Amino acid sequence: MESLLSVRAKTMKASEIRELLKLTQRKDIISFAGGLPNPQLFPKEQMAEIAKDVIMDQGDHSLQYGTTEGYSKFREAIAERLQKNFGMDVNSHNVQITSGSQQGLDLLTKVFVNRGDPIIVGNPTYLGAANVFAAAGVKFETVQVDGEGMNPDDLEEKLRVMTHHGENPKFMYLVPTFDNPTGVTMPTNRRKKILDIAHEYDMLVVEDDPYSELRYEGDPVKSIKSMDKEGRVIYFGTISKIMTPGLRLAWTVASEPIIEKFTYAKQNSDLCTSALNQRIAFEFMDRGYLEPHIQKIIDMYKRKRTLFLKGMDEHFPEEVKYTRPDGGLFSWAICPPEVDTTEMFKYAIRAKVAYVTGKPFHVDGSGNNTLRLNFSMPSDEQIESGLETLGQVLRDALAHSIKDTEEGDFMMAP
Ligand SMILES: Cc1ncc(COP(=O)(O)O)c(C=O)c1O
Repeated sequence: MESLLSVRAKTMKASEIRELLKLTQRKDIISFAGGLPNPQLFPKEQMAEIAKDVIMDQGDHSLQYGTTEGYSKFREAIAERLQKNFGMDVNSHNVQITSGSQQGLDLLTKVFVNRGDPIIVGNPTYLGAANVFAAAGVKFETVQVDGEGMNPDDLEEKLRVMTHHGENPKFMYLVPTFDNPTGVTMPTNRRKKILDIAHEYDMLVVEDDPYSELRYEGDPVKSIKSMDKEGRVIYFGTISKIMTPGLRLAWTVASEPIIEKFTYAKQNSDLCTSALNQRIAFEFMDRGYLEPHIQKIIDMYKRKRTLFLKGMDEHFPEEVKYTRPDGGLFSWAICPPEVDTTEMFKYAIRAKVAYVTGKPFHVDGSGNNTLRLNFSMPSDEQIESGLETLGQVLRDALAHSIKDTEEGDFMMAP
């Protein structure tokens, strides 16, 4: 069978994170590993009420195929929201509805990437995007990421060298607000600089933005797309973190010619996004349920984030640096280079606490001293006790007290 596989399939492998997550699903383990919205907040009653109405009253359409671009009323509602809340100069023709922004990322590669094309990502970057790009056969170039996101000086330097060697990257991919995995937000001046650089090197900017509406502190920062006067930015938004991921709905926002190409690509992929789910999501917005729902999410996650920061401040050794996100779902910790967080993971599991190792988020194979921590899923009590345990695990790792037993297994440090 192996010889029959496509080049693309041969490069695909099980996500390292998925494998790790299997371990963390044990009931006795406190997990900071996932990246999921908290199901306690799912609007079950409202969804049930709407689903019944949408099936009984609009069944001829909601149970039928839909257009590839998406349900027109939903596209209009999204465009209006992007204008009003995000200051974007867009209309419904700039919006394509997809089955999750993960599909948007996949369509992006189908529309723009030939095997071997260079593209730019941060180091670290969102793993789900990196996997899609890798399967499309891109050549990665990585740019340093600091407390304000992708570093424009490093970006310019990399682009200077690349173009000198005749390599012209088609796009850079970034999550500028409450980044996955780092949690950091890029300030406005840096966003402008990134856009200027994209202009100078005539490349696209792919702005992936699932988290910006989950802000717990500070003032909103304008999206890069809202500064785009040239149709240079392709923007991805999603309902996954502000409504519910189970409906699998997202939007790609771009110039009309780009949306047209994405539509052809989507036709080949799944013909259309679920008409039923789009109508449910539209009704959720139209009945005025979305904004109060987002506020509920913010209230819960804000409390959890505050507890999380307090716990890390109290329990983490000072050699371990971590981000203090103003929103989103994640904090990111960087240990001194001698700490191997992949090895430490087994030890953490023994201590009944889990995180996601940082290495898979680095397409250049570095980052073995980093870890991603999620604060939306664990209970308040789990945050408190889990961070105390993780603090001890980190202290032990720093003291090199994690030792191999004769069987090659780990034992608790004394
Ligand atoms: C940065 C980023 N992009 C895209 C996605 C996928 O979102 P969706 O559920 O819309 O496919 C996620 C999900 O966690 C994400 O963190």
